[in-house]
Amino acid sequence: MTWIRTSPSLALIKYWGKQHRRLNRPATPSLAVGVEELHSYCRAEMIKDNTAEDQVILNGSPVTVERFSPFFEYLKKDSGNAGISFHAESRNDFPTAAGFASSSSGFAALALACEKALNIEPDRERCSRWAGRGSASASRALWGGFTELKAGSLQAHPIHGPDYWPELRLILVETSGSEKPTSSREAMEQCRRSAPGYSRWLKDSRINFREARSALDRQDLEELGSWMQRSYMGMFSLMFSLPRPILYWLPESLELIRLCAGLRKKGIPAWETMDAGPQVKILTTEKDLPAILRQLKERDRPFKLRVSHIGGKPEECRSIPEGNVL
Ligand code: PMV
Repeated sequence: MTWIRTSPSLALIKYWGKQHRRLNRPATPSLAVGVEELHSYCRAEMIKDNTAEDQVILNGSPVTVERFSPFFEYLKKDSGNAGISFHAESRNDFPTAAGFASSSSGFAALALACEKALNIEPDRERCSRWAGRGSASASRALWGGFTELKAGSLQAHPIHGPDYWPELRLILVETSGSEKPTSSREAMEQCRRSAPGYSRWLKDSRINFREARSALDRQDLEELGSWMQRSYMGMFSLMFSLPRPILYWLPESLELIRLCAGLRKKGIPAWETMDAGPQVKILTTEKDLPAILRQLKERDRPFKLRVSHIGGKPEECRSIPEGNVL
C-alpha cells in the first residue's frame, strides 16, 4: 500500500480559539508555511463493514478513537459513505504532540490516505475540509508553500508556492522531545472561556494577519517578522493571563527568544515563533544561517537543530525512507 507523505503547517500568524467548537472553525485567521524537512506518513485501508471500528495506529501504538471520530464522521458523511470504516497507520519522523505541529501534517496525511482508499477523484479542497475537522491547522497542510486559513472557515487556500521566496529558511530548535501536558485544543478553549484579553485578541489577530500578508506579498522579512512576533506573543499572553496559567515555555525557550533579539540588534534577521509547546522556530534567510547556527551551537549543551526550506507539498511514496522515523 502506498504511503502519503505530508509536512507540518507552521503558523507565522496563529490560529488560536474556535469560533465553532463542534465544527472546529477557527476564530482567527492564520498564515502558514509548510516545513519541508519534517514528515508525517500515512496509509489507510477502507473496510466495507459498518460494525467495524475506525482504527488509527500512530507511531506503532493504537490511539483513542474519540480524538479521530469527528474527522471520520465528517469524512464519511461528506463523501456519502455510511457503512464503512477505516484502518490507518501513521508515523512521524519528528516528535509527536510536542509543539512541532504534528497534528497538522498527521490529519492532512490521514485525509489524503482515506481519499485514496475510497478510490475517488482527488480533490485538495475537500481534503482540506476533512483534515480541518480533525485539526484546523491541518486544513493548511494540503499544499505546501504559503497558505492561509480565514477566520470561520474550515478550508484553507494556497497563496504562494514553495518557490515564491527561495531564500527563506527555518531553523527548528528542539528544546524538549516530551509530549506537551495540555493539548492545544484544551488550551485554546480555556483562553476562549477565561482569558481577559480574548476579545482584543480576536481583533488584533485580524490586523496581524492583514499586515503580515501584505509584508509577505512584498517579501519584507523585517515587517513580516514583527507581525509574527505580535501574533505568537499575543497568543501566549492569553495563556499567561488565565486563572490557572498554561506555561508551555521552558527556560530554554526564553533563552532562544533572547538570543534572536540579540541577533536582530546586530542586524541579523532571526524571527522566532512558538506554538503550543516549548520548541522555537526561527525564520531567517539562507545567507544569515551560518551566523545564527554558530551562535546556537555555542552552548555547553547543544540544542537539537534542523534546518528546513519552505515546502512540504504532499507526495505519495512506496516506502518510508530508512532511519527517517523516530
Ligand atoms: O490545529 P490545532 O488544534 O493543532 O491548533 C494549532 C494551534 C497553533 O499551532 C498554535 C497555531 C496554528 O495556527 O497552527
